[in-house]
Amino acid sequence: MNILILNGPNLNMLGIREPEVYGKESLEDIRTNIQELADRKAFGFEFFQSNAEHEIVEKIQSALGKFDSIVFNPGAFTHTSVAIRDALLAVSIPFYEVHISNVFAREEFRKKSYFSDIAVAVISGCGSQGYELAIRNSIKE
Ligand code: DQA
Repeated sequence: MNILILNGPNLNMLGIREPEVYGKESLEDIRTNIQELADRKAFGFEFFQSNAEHEIVEKIQSALGKFDSIVFNPGAFTHTSVAIRDALLAVSIPFYEVHISNVFAREEFRKKSYFSDIAVAVISGCGSQGYELAIRNSIKE
């Protein structure tokens, strides 16, 4: 079982960025927690973050044949990116949409997602635990 953990724009700023919304953990803290889970549950993963839409599209395209599932926090691209949606449809790898905050309890524009209807599941508002929930579901725990 190999999982691609994908993070969109500004998630490299976790810990600094709006801690009242996104908490105090850094993206590196999240990666470390996933590493511990992977050691216990024996799955492989790659952890990737980019602020650039084309890099995320390319990462998804290159995931074909390498990853069994994708755990994806698309950041602001959630609400804008047809290109990333099309990449996910192109590779047909089951993916989970994860948001640290509850996007439905925030600004109106955050209620629109280009991914939710094609995701296995959407986890929004569980903080960084959302990544772990998605991984555990994906490894059929
Ligand atoms: C986010 C929610 C998005 O609306 C926002 O643009 C982000 C982070 C979250 O994890 O809560 O960058 O995906």
